[in-house]
Amino acid sequence: MATKNKTIVLAYSGGLDTSVAIKWLADRYDSEIVTVTADLGNNPDLPTVEKRALSTGARKAHIIDGKSEFIEHFIWPALKASALYEGVYPLATALARPLIAKFLVEVAKEENAFAIAHGCTGKGNDQVRFDVSTLALAPELQILAPARIWNMNRDQEIDYVREHNIPITIGPKTPYSVDENLWGRSIEAGPLEDPDMAPAEEVFEWTRSIDEAPSKGVELKIDFRQGIPVGLNNKEIDSLRLIDQVNELAGLHGIGRIDHIENRLVGIKSREIYEAPAATVLHMAHNALEYLTLTKEQRDLKSIISLDYSRMVYNGLWFSTHRQNLDAYVNSTQEYVSGSVRLKLHKGNCIVLGRTSPYSLYKFDLASYGQEDTFDHVASEGFIKIYGMPIKTQAEILRDAN
Ligand code: ARG
Repeated sequence: MATKNKTIVLAYSGGLDTSVAIKWLADRYDSEIVTVTADLGNNPDLPTVEKRALSTGARKAHIIDGKSEFIEHFIWPALKASALYEGVYPLATALARPLIAKFLVEVAKEENAFAIAHGCTGKGNDQVRFDVSTLALAPELQILAPARIWNMNRDQEIDYVREHNIPITIGPKTPYSVDENLWGRSIEAGPLEDPDMAPAEEVFEWTRSIDEAPSKGVELKIDFRQGIPVGLNNKEIDSLRLIDQVNELAGLHGIGRIDHIENRLVGIKSREIYEAPAATVLHMAHNALEYLTLTKEQRDLKSIISLDYSRMVYNGLWFSTHRQNLDAYVNSTQEYVSGSVRLKLHKGNCIVLGRTSPYSLYKFDLASYGQEDTFDHVASEGFIKIYGMPIKTQAEILRDAN
């Protein structure tokens, strides 16, 4: 058992910043460091990460497989809520942070730690998400963010690594900052900081360019049960495999590249590139099914909720009662969002071909202009007379007043 108040639990990626943080935090706070690395489908080389944490001086290195929790409790709720920040960003990074914070807090309690720590800088959204999530889950814990304090640039960090014999190999300098999990890749910085410069092909790893995508498209059928995708091409499939397969297939066809000038919580506009093939396809399919199965009022209110939901996730308020309230509403809308959507993936396009549902509100004999038409055309006259009465009344009064 660790001595009371001598342990710090650090979110550890295995990269330069967080490796420096192990040593820096241990020295500065005269503490023992326990690291937590979450596997959220970003395919880290986990044995290497674990070894590196220990040989850099961590007392213990926890590796946590959070993939299914991430999907069931974070990704699916966000999909059901149609949460796309500023209408485009499926929130991969933003959804992952509160879960990592939850793991940090759980380990902090196990280890009787006095603080959690993370490697975020003072300019981004991620620091807010880690900090606010921790405040919500364990207000008694201290939160340490060395990169907000130490004032080292990359070269100084490399000097620090050499000086303290930190056993990491410094890879070639890449100009980009990348965060990745199974719901998407987020890429920023370097040449992307010029909003007028098209991203170089080298930033993309999950998606082919439109030029390189196959000239022949492919069809895909997705089955939903209560707003959640459960089947692919007529086969039930577990969530992780479903997301992986759609990422693979849609990526091959050049779908899911997003280029956005984003409004960060801290007031900065920043250029963000995302690759989110599965998220793009699943949001589109889910949306198509909602328009088939929800009433006008339900879908309209859901659009307003979606806007609020996406801001709430982006702004780090996942562990709020507000989110629980929104989830309750969203879940109640999803009761009949079951059925299938057929899509075509082709050269960067995801096109809805068709949709069916046992709860479809579409009635052929009402919509049809053919012989099957049962809509009461005569009744429309009376409807319009009353519906149009206020506008007619006003028009008459204004006409006569002038
Ligand atoms: N702008 C995105 C967000 O706030 C992505 C941040 C990605 N982080 C990174 N280290 N590249 O969610």
